[in-house]
Amino acid sequence: MLQEQIPDLAKFVEPDRVRREVYTDAAIFDLEMQRIHEKVWIYCGHETQVPKVGDYYTVQIGRQPMIMVRGADGKIHVLYNRCPHRGNMIAGDRKGNTGEFFRCSYHAWQFHLDGKLKNIPMMEAGYKGTRYEKDKSDCNVKRAARVENYRGFVFASLANDGPTLKEFLGKAIVAFDDMCDRAPEGEVEIVPTCFRVIQHSNWKIFLENQLDALHPSVVHQSTGRAAHEVEKEIAKRTKKGEAPLSYHMLSAFATVTIDKWDSFQTINYPHGHCILTGYMGLRPRDPDTLAYDKVMIKAYGQKRFEEIVGVNIHHVLIYPGLSVQSPLQQLRAVRPLGVDRTLTEIWHFRLKGAPEPIYRRSLAYYNLVNSPSTLINADDLENFWKCHQGLSSDAGQWVSFARHMGRDLENDGVVETAPNCGTSEAPMRNQMKAWAEYMRG
Ligand code: FES
Ligand SMILES: [Fe+2]
Repeated sequence: MLQEQIPDLAKFVEPDRVRREVYTDAAIFDLEMQRIHEKVWIYCGHETQVPKVGDYYTVQIGRQPMIMVRGADGKIHVLYNRCPHRGNMIAGDRKGNTGEFFRCSYHAWQFHLDGKLKNIPMMEAGYKGTRYEKDKSDCNVKRAARVENYRGFVFASLANDGPTLKEFLGKAIVAFDDMCDRAPEGEVEIVPTCFRVIQHSNWKIFLENQLDALHPSVVHQSTGRAAHEVEKEIAKRTKKGEAPLSYHMLSAFATVTIDKWDSFQTINYPHGHCILTGYMGLRPRDPDTLAYDKVMIKAYGQKRFEEIVGVNIHHVLIYPGLSVQSPLQQLRAVRPLGVDRTLTEIWHFRLKGAPEPIYRRSLAYYNLVNSPSTLINADDLENFWKCHQGLSSDAGQWVSFARHMGRDLENDGVVETAPNCGTSEAPMRNQMKAWAEYMRG
């Protein structure tokens, strides 16, 4: 039906540009939810969000309200948040502990933590001879078709068929390996609160910004400059002539100039995933880092330690719903709410077994770029809204992704940007290529 309304989607995507309706048309949005978000592997949450039996956390997958819950057997289940009786959401709170079972707040149907019906009040008298009898699947809470857990990160797919999680992630799996390997115990633990930001723009505008290496030195320049002034001032006044590292995290937005960003590289993979390398590869030699290095060498040995901290990643984009900054232990999950409304959840993690100052450092970065009290995120959000407004006008039909087009190096389905083309719009071209493939069905 929708497909008929949008007769030839292929015409909306060209190698170097995309029609504006892709961002603004509500019918296209519905089709995207059906063909992309409600099909592929979507990140639900981390297993440490639900440590105890009965712990649950609600999450949106496409248009579907879902619940991630720790079952009686210790396994994590992902259920639709919908009572099979008259449709009430069975979990009304964002998170909590439901005890040994769910009990719907409307007519008290009860469900085991894996979604199976446990009991209906006066079931025998009320439902004898109807389709609603115990052990009939109509009485169970529907479950996500597939759930997989990779190193503590829980994903669900609402489609029965499709690639496994590992096949889907491909090389982008490095996001989780890099994050966990940096922990002396090889695991991370979630910090149980997140920033939740609703932006008034299409979800793809957010994802396209994630690996847009051109924008930081423009959009975040004013914040970077202000931080640099303070950094210099503090440095002047201290004996060692150095300001705390957190100032550098912000000042880098101004001191790393546009041409330097071109020296980084993006590697673009099938399914729209992409890695931005460089920049975070720097290894500071301050006492906190050296203390951490010691713990890591003890855990892994010198050789493996060098391999782990030598992984040079700035950002991994896992299309269509996740952007991970593994060296700083944070991720952003994208939850589209409507064609012009997008929720992002920004989480961060502790490296298990690492000294406290290492956590403090990632917390500092997390707050510096995401908190409502800094301008980094706000500057991005303003542009996202302005993009969506501009695209809603009749002033032009196309969005351009032509930067450094034709200079990419393609090998076996993997597209690497050429030397000194780090600001290439290859990641956006790659995302739209995946989009078109999914949308063709
Ligand atoms: S809607 Fe859930 S028990 Fe009636
Ligand atoms: Fe930004």
